[in-house]
Amino acid sequence: AFAQDTVKVGLILPMTGPFASTGRQVSTAAEAYMDVHGSEVAGKEIELIIEDDGGVPDQTKRIAQELVVNEDVDILAGFGLTPLAFATAPIASQAKVPMVVMSAGTSSITEKSPYIARTSFTLAQSTVPLAKWAAENDIKSVVTVVADYAPGIDSENSFSKEFESHGGEIVEKIRVPVANPDFAPFLQRVRDLEPDAVFVFVPSGVGSAFMKQFRDRGLDEAGIQLIGTGDVTDDDILNDMGDVAKGVITTHIYSAAHESELNDTFKEAFRAAGGERPNFMAVGGWDGMALIYQALEKTGGDTDGDALIEAMKGLAWESPRGPISIDPETRDIIQDIYYREVKDVDGELYNVEFGKEEAVKDPVKAGQ
Ligand code: DHB
Repeated sequence: AFAQDTVKVGLILPMTGPFASTGRQVSTAAEAYMDVHGSEVAGKEIELIIEDDGGVPDQTKRIAQELVVNEDVDILAGFGLTPLAFATAPIASQAKVPMVVMSAGTSSITEKSPYIARTSFTLAQSTVPLAKWAAENDIKSVVTVVADYAPGIDSENSFSKEFESHGGEIVEKIRVPVANPDFAPFLQRVRDLEPDAVFVFVPSGVGSAFMKQFRDRGLDEAGIQLIGTGDVTDDDILNDMGDVAKGVITTHIYSAAHESELNDTFKEAFRAAGGERPNFMAVGGWDGMALIYQALEKTGGDTDGDALIEAMKGLAWESPRGPISIDPETRDIIQDIYYREVKDVDGELYNVEFGKEEAVKDPVKAGQ
């Protein structure tokens, strides 16, 4: 193909380092999307360029700059953690290149550049329904335990605000280091405080270490209910957590156990592309590609950055998670949030959905 017939998508992800599971999930899902839908859109050939930033913000920014200047990419995508998206936002603005955030969750990310659109989630989106559920289900006191960086702070704020507005009591707010934290002392503290429940947010991949310490510190035996955003019962690692995970209540955007024809197609394509069980990061990658394909169709293959971001606003489609759309005002995702309980399904642990809130906008931008 001639150069102008190719649309280059630079997919920057942590393929190595402590958050490599996110890179693997998102890249596999993006490839699966292209396997199912082909690589031609509006007469253009899509070229996916996958780059590893190791989860280091300076690297993400350097790679984005390099892709824009030397590779002439039309779209930047990926961003496995909030600091990686924050670091790259100025590049998107300067180069006027759309930046599709597939896997980070801090509310303010979409405000860092008018060229950003998001297909992942915000932490407040899943946290607010959970706080409401807790208050309505006899949970009167909660200790919050969150990873000490932007999405953790968002979830702590959202949970506290919503829970207290229903008369609940936040006993203590605990923040733990982001990567490889030792949860033991923090969970011992939770046990001593004897709340009805502990609310947790840890990023994708860290849930196993948390669950192990939750059991080892005897919190389940002490009758402390574990609740959290679905990041802690991440489908990528859930099945290896053992019995301690059973009964954990979470709210989230996606479960591999979600029942729909499209989710079956997604899971099959994900496996064919070399993955095992897709998680909520994978679905952000799949939908990020869906957003890029649909925007290109809308512009008739025009790759002008302003035209593409304009085309993304207001798009609505069915995702393997359920119906989603891009809020034309904020460029953030609007999606259903599911209530789930970890259960054994035919010998494997899954997040089984038992209810939902429909078409949830980011509560922070809506003024929570
Ligand atoms: C972010 C990263 C995660 O792995 C996650 O599960 C949620 C949020 C983030 O950095 O934004």
